[in-house]
Amino acid sequence: MAVKTNPRSRKNRRAPRVLILHGPNLNLVGTREPGIYGRETLADIERRLRELAGQLGVVLETFQSNSEGKLVDRIQAARGAADAIVVNAGAYTHTSVAIRDALLATELPVIEVHLSNTYKREAFRRRSLIADVAVGRIVGFGADSYLLGLRAAAALLAGR
Ligand code: DQA
Repeated sequence: MAVKTNPRSRKNRRAPRVLILHGPNLNLVGTREPGIYGRETLADIERRLRELAGQLGVVLETFQSNSEGKLVDRIQAARGAADAIVVNAGAYTHTSVAIRDALLATELPVIEVHLSNTYKREAFRRRSLIADVAVGRIVGFGADSYLLGLRAAAALLAGR
């Protein structure tokens, strides 16, 4: 006898996939301007993210690049392969139309995160080309901004 399965049941639903993107100079976090960005390294942050992803039942992929083109390529590859993107585009946040356009092209929910509170700093950091294409933004909580961003993505996807 064939067993009926409901494709929408919780059991049959596959784990949501979240892509975490880190832009330029974030590979130096931990040693770069620690008074602003903290002493945790990117490896420390990613360890905490993976631990939280396990608790939330989310499949995590992470990618860091200093190159705008590589970030655009990685965002394009997420189309149909990820369910949400958590992005800290670093300085490209304030300048990159290409990253904004790539995020829009994915048609995925985007959550923008920043380690520092960009509003408390130089005026040019107050402008984000990602802000209005993101579902929301989390800024100023150090490494916790990423963890809060991942929680927000998981909650968003759980409600879909
Ligand atoms: C940053 C803020 C940006 O203005 C800066 O260029 C960065 C890091 C943050 O996480 O606080 O590289 O995105």
